[in-house]
Amino acid sequence: MEEIRRILEYLEKHNLYPDMRIIQGGAEPEVIVDGKKVLMFSSNNYLGLATHPKVVNAAIEATKKYGVGADGSRLLSGNLQVHRDFEIAIAKFKGGEDAIVWPTGYSANLGVITAIMNPPKIGPLDFFRRKGVILSDSLNHASIVDACKMSGQKVVVYKHCNTADLEKKLKKYSKRKKLVVTDGVFSMDGDVAPLDKITLLCKRYDAMLMIDEAHSTGMQGENGHGTAERFGLEAVKDIDIILGTCSKALAATGGFVVGSKELIKYLRIASRSYIFSTAMTPAASASLIASLKIIESEPGIREKMWQNTECLRAGFNSLGFDTLSSETQIIPVLIGPDDKAVEFSRRLFKRGVYAPCVRWPAVEKGKARIRFTVMATHTVEQINFLLKTCESIGSELNLLVK
Ligand SMILES: Cc1ncc(COP(=O)(O)O)c(C=O)c1O
Repeated sequence: MEEIRRILEYLEKHNLYPDMRIIQGGAEPEVIVDGKKVLMFSSNNYLGLATHPKVVNAAIEATKKYGVGADGSRLLSGNLQVHRDFEIAIAKFKGGEDAIVWPTGYSANLGVITAIMNPPKIGPLDFFRRKGVILSDSLNHASIVDACKMSGQKVVVYKHCNTADLEKKLKKYSKRKKLVVTDGVFSMDGDVAPLDKITLLCKRYDAMLMIDEAHSTGMQGENGHGTAERFGLEAVKDIDIILGTCSKALAATGGFVVGSKELIKYLRIASRSYIFSTAMTPAASASLIASLKIIESEPGIREKMWQNTECLRAGFNSLGFDTLSSETQIIPVLIGPDDKAVEFSRRLFKRGVYAPCVRWPAVEKGKARIRFTVMATHTVEQINFLLKTCESIGSELNLLVK
C-alpha cells in the first residue's frame, strides 16, 4: 500500500491525476458534464447511433424479452438467440463465413490471440511443437499488446505502418508459425494501416493476418464495412482474422471476430475469455443488429460524418496545429508535455468543450495530445466554435506553428 500511496501523491503533486468528470446524459454533441452544458468532442459514437430511436428501441424490446443480462457463459446458459442473430449479421456485414462475439473488444483481443498462438493442449503433443512469433505494429491498441504478452509467445514489434521493417522481421522468423497483427485505423493517431501491402507480405511469408477494426467498422470503405473494403480485400481469402469492437460506431459494447467457419468453431472451445465470461447483454446484441441495418440503409449518416471530419481537420491544420498523420474521424492535436495537455483540456472545459487529454501509457511519452473525435451529429457551428476555442487556447499556450 505504501507504493500505491506514493504513486498517487506523485500524480496529485504534479497535477496529473485524470479529471474523471461525470457525464450526465447520452453521447450527443451537447452533453451535461459535471453539471455544465458543454460540447462533446471525444466520443466514439461516430455515427450518432447510441441514441438513435431505432437502436434504443431494439435494446428496450430485447430487454423486455430476455431480461437485463445473459446470465451465463455462451457455453452454459447464456447462448441466446439474439447473440447468434448478431453473429450472423456481423459475419454478413464483413463478408466472412461466420462470426463469434465476446462481451468487450478487449476480451475479444485477449481471447483470440491467446487461443491462436497458445492453443489448449488438446490432442497429441506434436500439434504444439512449432514455435510461434507475433509481429505487432508499434502503435497497436493496449488490448493487443496485453494479449500478445498473455500468449506467452515471442512478440516482435515492427515500426508503425512500416512494411519494409515488417518484411525484414518476417524473413528473420520464416521458420516459425507467424501471426501479424495490426489495427485497421489506429486509435490514437487516426491513421490507416497499409493493408494492401501487409496482406501481400503475409501471403509471401506464410503468416496469418489479424486486423483490429475497432475504429473502422461502420466508417471505412464505400459501405462502411471496414478497412478491408477500403483496400478491396476479402475476409478469409485475404485476411484470416477480422476482429472488431461493438463500442465505437456500432454504439454498444462487445467484440467480434469474423473469419472462416473452422476458425470460429475453434475459438468457441479455445478462447478462455469467451468460455469463462458471461455473454454480452441481450440489449447490446439487439441494438447492434439495428445499428448494422442503419449503416447499410442510410449511407448519408456516414457522408455527414466525413464532411464534419474534413471540416475539422482542415480547420486545425490551417490554424497551425499538428494533427499527426490522421486521415480519419480521430483527429489528434499534438501538445507534447503531459502538463501542457492537461492544461489545454481544462481550459477547453472552462470554455464549454469536453475533450480530455491522452497521455502515456495510452501514447508515447512526450506525445500527449487532445484526441478529438467527430460525430455525424455535430453541426458546422459546433465545429467552428471548437476551432475558435482551440485557436485562442493554442495561442495562449504557444502551440500554433505559423
Ligand atoms: C483498436 C482497439 N481495439 C480494442 C479496443 C477495446 O475495445 P472495447 O472498448 O470494446 O473493450 C479498443 C478500445 O478503445 C480499441 O481502440
